[in-house]
Order: sequence, then C-alpha cells, then structure tokens
Amino acid sequence: MVKVTNKIDWIGIKDWDLRLFHGHELSTFKGSTYNSYVIRDEKTVLVDTVWLPHADEYMETLENEVGIDNIDYIIINHMEPDHGGTLGKIMEKRPDLPIYCSIKGEETIKAYFHKEWDLRPMKTGDTLNIGENTITFVEMRMIHWPDSMLLYIDKEKTVLSSDAFGQHLCTKSLFNDEVDECVLYQEAIKYYANILTPFSKLIKKKLVEITALNLDIEVIAPAHGVIWRDNPMQIVKAYAKWSDDYHEEFAVILFDSMYDSTRKIALALEEGMGEAGKKVKIFNASITDLSDMLTELYKADTIMIGSSTVNNGVLASIEIILHEIKGHKLGGKDFLAFGSYGWSGESPKHIHQKLLDAKLNPLADPISVFYNPTKQDLLEIKKLAKSLVK
Ligand code: FEO
Repeated sequence: MVKVTNKIDWIGIKDWDLRLFHGHELSTFKGSTYNSYVIRDEKTVLVDTVWLPHADEYMETLENEVGIDNIDYIIINHMEPDHGGTLGKIMEKRPDLPIYCSIKGEETIKAYFHKEWDLRPMKTGDTLNIGENTITFVEMRMIHWPDSMLLYIDKEKTVLSSDAFGQHLCTKSLFNDEVDECVLYQEAIKYYANILTPFSKLIKKKLVEITALNLDIEVIAPAHGVIWRDNPMQIVKAYAKWSDDYHEEFAVILFDSMYDSTRKIALALEEGMGEAGKKVKIFNASITDLSDMLTELYKADTIMIGSSTVNNGVLASIEIILHEIKGHKLGGKDFLAFGSYGWSGESPKHIHQKLLDAKLNPLADPISVFYNPTKQDLLEIKKLAKSLVK
C-alpha cells in the first residue's frame, strides 16, 4: 500500500510486464498499473479493484492491510475488467457488501456477474457521507465506458478520476513529481490519443461541467499510472486542449511499399514539405507500432498516406490505420493519398475515399504512379508538396 493523502491509500497492482492491452489493440511499452484505493474514514471504502490475472496478489494485500471484513462499502467507478475484474472474488467473501456504482454501472455489473448483489446506483451530484469526508459522485459517461464515474472526496481534496487523466505507465514512484516528466507527458497523450479521442466532444463538455463545480483539488488519482499531486490541474488543462480539435503544426507521412515505388513518393513529399518549412514525421506503417502511429496522427495537422496497390486495394498495414483513423474520429485534419500500381491501381483512390469518409479534408487529388516513378514524377511530387505547404 502507498499513502496518497491522510485518509486515502493506494492498493493497486504494478504490472511491469504488460506490453499489449485491450486484447492486442494497444501497446503499453512501459507497463501499467491498476489503481485501487482505500478510504479509511469512519467507514472504510474500497474504490475499484484490479484485473483478474492479478487477483491473488491483490486479495492477499487487501486482506493483510485492510481486512476484507473491515470494508463497509465498495465503489466501482468503472466495470471494465481491468478495474472491476476482482469484484467477484471480494463478493464471494462478503456477499453483503453494498456496491456503489453509476446508473449505467448497475447494468454493467449485472451483465458481467449475473448476481443479486446490493447495488446502489448513484447519479451526478449524489453524495455519500463516510465520516469526516463526503464523497460526491460524478458520472463520466464514455470516459471511457458508459458506466464510468469520478469521485470527489472533499476533506482529502482528492479526485479519484477512473480512466480519465491516466497513463499506461509503471514506475517505482506513484507520484508525478517523482517520475520523468517527458515520459509522463508522452504516455498521457498516447493514452488520450488511443483510448479517449473518440469521446473528445463529451470530454470537452464534461470538463466545463467539472470546472464549474469549483472543487478544491490537491490530488487527482486516476485508475492507471501515476497520481497527479504536483500541480494536478496541469492534466485537466491538457485534456481541455486535447479534447478541443487538438493539433500541432506538423505533417505525418505514413506509407507501406512493396518494391520502394511508394516509398520514393513518400520521400519526395517529405523533401518538398521540408524545403517549404513544414515539420514532417515519416513512418513505414508495416514496421511501426500502431498505437505510436495513432498518437502521431492524432497530434498532426496534416496526414499523408500511401500504399502500393495489391489485390485491388491497399496493403494490410494501411487498411488497419485507415480503420483506426475513422474509429478514433481524427476528422478535421488535411490529407493527401498516394501510391504506386502495376495494373489496376485502386490504392490511392481507396485511401482518398476512406479519409473523406473519416471527415478529413483533401489537399489535392490522390497521387498515383505507374510502376516506378521517374525523376520527373518525383520532381513534380516535390513541387506539389511545397505548394501544399504554402
Ligand atoms: Fe482502464 Fe476503461 O478501463
């Protein structure tokens, strides 16, 4: 256990080994933590649990440090199994325990466990007095699931924010003032880009609602990664920016190439934009981590995507990224599609159409090159890239 405030302890799991999450969807090169908290007031309250593979270690610590019989209430901020997974094990020992959750949480917990437990759904603004402290419940629908919820513990001046403001980051220290700030920023924005971008509109609205409550906040303790206790509002301000059509002034060029023709187009685009003063990041999609690419695509203001044509379509690495761009609602950015072909030539048109469908803005018609680009082709492409920057 780790002391967070006078009456709140962290009782989570540090998962140093985690490298893939959400099935195999998300890379977590720096591990993660599953943050469960205990509030020890006149009532003892357990907030969230951990992912089931870590249940034995967690249950042992919970028994030794808190005593499962000493828990008065359990609050499930979010039933996704990385947080709610061990609830069943606790309830086997304490089937009488009242479970506080959101209104959607009641439905989710029932759908996961199919048990007749004492579920107490709370809506935004509802409170629970536990002694010196009163807990205020705030629904956080779709941040990250419909059931998500945030807690404010008033005398501790602490927000337990569930998935919001988290990072997949496992470090020796659990506090933001004791870890590498650059790594923390990178993991926080990667987490936002990969998990929360589809819900940016809701997040923007929710931040306005929470800010209007004028809460006195000294600590923001998320469900993953480090706890914000030094200038905790910095992450709220970052979310305000990230949820508001965020972009930085650079272009991402993403390509996959069978025999280097599409690669040559990508490099000509890079050269042209670079000479015109545009910052460019270039990735070969077939050998770059998908979650890291998605983070860069989220940050960029311009996206250029290219693929060779194969089987009347694009290479698989490009099809996946097109799917992710739409799913993550990265619309509003400028784009250009490109690619080479030998006979049917659908790839650039396919990329162009998919990015239009994802509500990105075309900079020009797709660039399509027959087999191998000539020097003249590459000069023309470079010239086009320059003109697009201007
Ligand atoms: Fe960390 Fe949405 O669960």
